[in-house]
Amino acid sequence: MSSDVMISIRNLKMEYLVREGTIKAVDNIDLDIYRHEITGIVGESGSGKTSLIETILRILPRNARIRSGKVILRTNRGDEIDLMSLSEETMRRIRGRVIGYVPQGSQTSLNPVQNIRQHFIETLKDHGIHDEKTIEESYEKLKIVGLEPSSVLSKFPHELSGGMKQRVVISLTMALNPEIIVLDEPTSALDIFSQRILLNILDNIREKFRTTMILITHDLPVVAELADRVAVLYAGKIVEYGSFRDIFEKPLHPYTQMLIRSIPSITNFYTKSIPKPIPGEPPSLLNPPPGCRFNPRCPFTREICVREDPPMIEVEKGHYVKCWLYARK
Ligand SMILES: Nc1ncnc2c1ncn2[C@@H]1O[C@H](COP(=O)(O)OP(=O)(O)O)[C@@H](O)[C@H]1O
Ligand code: SF4
Ligand SMILES: [Mg+2]
Repeated sequence: MSSDVMISIRNLKMEYLVREGTIKAVDNIDLDIYRHEITGIVGESGSGKTSLIETILRILPRNARIRSGKVILRTNRGDEIDLMSLSEETMRRIRGRVIGYVPQGSQTSLNPVQNIRQHFIETLKDHGIHDEKTIEESYEKLKIVGLEPSSVLSKFPHELSGGMKQRVVISLTMALNPEIIVLDEPTSALDIFSQRILLNILDNIREKFRTTMILITHDLPVVAELADRVAVLYAGKIVEYGSFRDIFEKPLHPYTQMLIRSIPSITNFYTKSIPKPIPGEPPSLLNPPPGCRFNPRCPFTREICVREDPPMIEVEKGHYVKCWLYARK
C-alpha cells in the first residue's frame, strides 16, 4: 500500500436485510483515499453514499450485514490496521480521534439544552480527555470555521443559524484533531450563502491543516469546487474514479458524462452546451438489473452489458472506469 494512500478499501460489500430480500447498497467497492487530499464521492440519492461511509466506520443499523472486504487505514504514524477486523472498543477510539465524522443533517444533532462550551467539554470527555487546558484550547477550533469563541461558547443551538450550527459541528469534529474528516452532504440543508461560506472553510482547512477529507454529496458542483479526486457511485458500485481533471475534463463512463451534462453550471463551464437531464430512474437495489446496472439508461448498451457486470479498468494511470466500452471480452 502506497504511503500516500490513507484508506484502502477492497472488495467491500454490505447488504441490508429487508422483508422483500436484500438491498445491495455497497457492492464490491474498491477505493483508495489519498492523504492530504479531498476525495469527493458523488452519486444520486439512494446510490449508497451514506451506506458506504457507515460501513467503513462500522456504525450500521441492525439489519445491515457486511459480507466481505477490507478497509486498511494507514495512520499518519504509519500503523496499518484493518477497520473491518478491529474490536468495537478500538473502533470507538478510531472514530473521532483518527476519523472525524460529520453525518448528514448533523446540525440537528446538537443538544438543545447544552450551550456550545458544554458540547466541547462533552465531546472531549467522551474521548477520555478531561484536562482543563486541552479543553480550553479546543475552543480555538471555532476560529477555523469563522466563529469567535467569546461570542459563541455561551450560546445555545437555537440561538445559531443552520449554517453556524453546521460550522460548530465541524469545529467539534476538529477538536479531537482527527487525521481525516468525512462529511456527508455537508451543504444539503444550507442556503446558497451558507453553502458558499462552508466551501471556503473546507478549502481553508485543507490549506492550513492539510487534513485528509472525504466529501460525500449528490451535488456535483460542490465536488467540482473542492475535490482533488472523485469517485462516481451508481447503484452501490463505483463506476468511475480519477483525478478532478480526469472526471470533469475527460469523463469516460456514460453515466459520468450524462451527469456532467445534466448540471447547468458545470455544463456551461466545461462543455458550453445546453444541460440535458439523464433519462429514466436509478434502479432498485433490491432487484438491480443484471449485468451493468446502468444498462437500462445507457445509450450505448450492448448485449454483453445486459449479461455481465463490466470489470473496473485502469484506462490511464489513476483513472478507472467500469464499462464494457473500455474492457476487452
Ligand atoms: N436501514 C436501512 N434498511 C434498508 N435499506 C436501507 C437502509 N438504509 C438505506 N437503505 C437503502 O440503501 C440504499 C442506499 O441508501 P443510502 O446509503 O442512504 O444512499 P445515499 O446516501 O446515496 O442517498 C437505498 O436503496 C436505501 O433505501
Ligand atoms: S457497460 Fe454497457 S450499459 Fe454499462 S455504461 Fe458501459 S456501455 Fe453503458
Ligand atoms: Mg446519504
